[in-house]
Amino acid sequence: MKDIVLSGIRPTGNLHLGNYYGAVRSFVKMQNEMNCYFFIADWHSLTTHPTPENIQQSARTILAEYLACGLDPDKATIYIQSDVPETIELYLYFNMNTYIGELGRVTTFKEKARQQPDNVNAGLFTYPTLMAADILQHRAKWVPVGKDQEQNMEMARKCARRFNNIYKTEFFPEPQNFYFGGEAVKVPGLDGSGKMGKSDGNCIYLYEDEKVVRKKVMRAVTDNGPQAPNSEKPEVIQNLFTLMHIVSDEETYKYFDEKWNDCTLRYGDMKKQLAEDMVRTLNPIRERIEEYKGNTELLDRIARQGAEKARESASTTLREVRKIIGFKVY
Ligand code: TYM
Repeated sequence: MKDIVLSGIRPTGNLHLGNYYGAVRSFVKMQNEMNCYFFIADWHSLTTHPTPENIQQSARTILAEYLACGLDPDKATIYIQSDVPETIELYLYFNMNTYIGELGRVTTFKEKARQQPDNVNAGLFTYPTLMAADILQHRAKWVPVGKDQEQNMEMARKCARRFNNIYKTEFFPEPQNFYFGGEAVKVPGLDGSGKMGKSDGNCIYLYEDEKVVRKKVMRAVTDNGPQAPNSEKPEVIQNLFTLMHIVSDEETYKYFDEKWNDCTLRYGDMKKQLAEDMVRTLNPIRERIEEYKGNTELLDRIARQGAEKARESASTTLREVRKIIGFKVY
């Protein structure tokens, strides 16, 4: 039997290079070899965006972007989270076995609670158990994610382990993080911040055209340049090199790294090259986004087909889970 893979993205904005290099690029690779489920986490987005302007439209947009990146509905099951109500039942069981102390220690919860002090809701608090339900309803073994999801993944493993222990079973596998190239990826932001996220000055979106990409990269935060040979790179400069490490080839990276080391690096040249390499990756994706975005009939058909397959898998799991816990299964 093929290994099962699952991953998802919240539709709180368009896909950006962080999503692409952290997660989507692995999806595209894995769908050829494994039994893959890729979904759009619209319920999760309610934890921070309680009244989304057009939730259906956002989910369709991410779907179009998934397809443009190369996800293939004939190879993988691509679906929208809210189309699979079975997830909620598993979420409930996991909530029964998860302690408030451990949920309160999750750093993303603490961060979000700081960012939205007027809306520290129970959904935000139990975000990791919903994520565990997403993964374990298909009994997935692999989860392609970026570095920022490590703690949520640890909680998912905990849910699996604890369920198995409590009910004396080996039903759930402990899902593992999957990293393209073997290493956790954190794509840095262009504003000198540690992580590319969903904000304009910091982030390059997959739909953006060449001109915008070049402009944004040329504006990326830097400093006065190398001051002494072979010196350590300050964080903002290290970010630029990390970006180059991710999007450019090894020789290009080495070339600029040597220039840094012998103090001849000109950031303008490096940024031009970086923008060039980003554009090369993004151009074909952007063209395909345009094609898919307009084809609502196709997007609806893919979402419907994905929902059916995902529900079939989830309901099989939930039937077993009910039996294991001791509920009557009719
Ligand atoms: P989300 O929507 O914040 O991000 C989606 C995926 O993109 C990765 N990512 C990054 N990777 C590297 N560098 C970055 N700068 C960067 N920014 C985002 C994230 O690590 C993630 O893999 N909790 C998830 C959604 C989710 C999920 C799941 C994922 C819900 N259920 C089950 C996997 C399995 C999230 O908020 O991702």
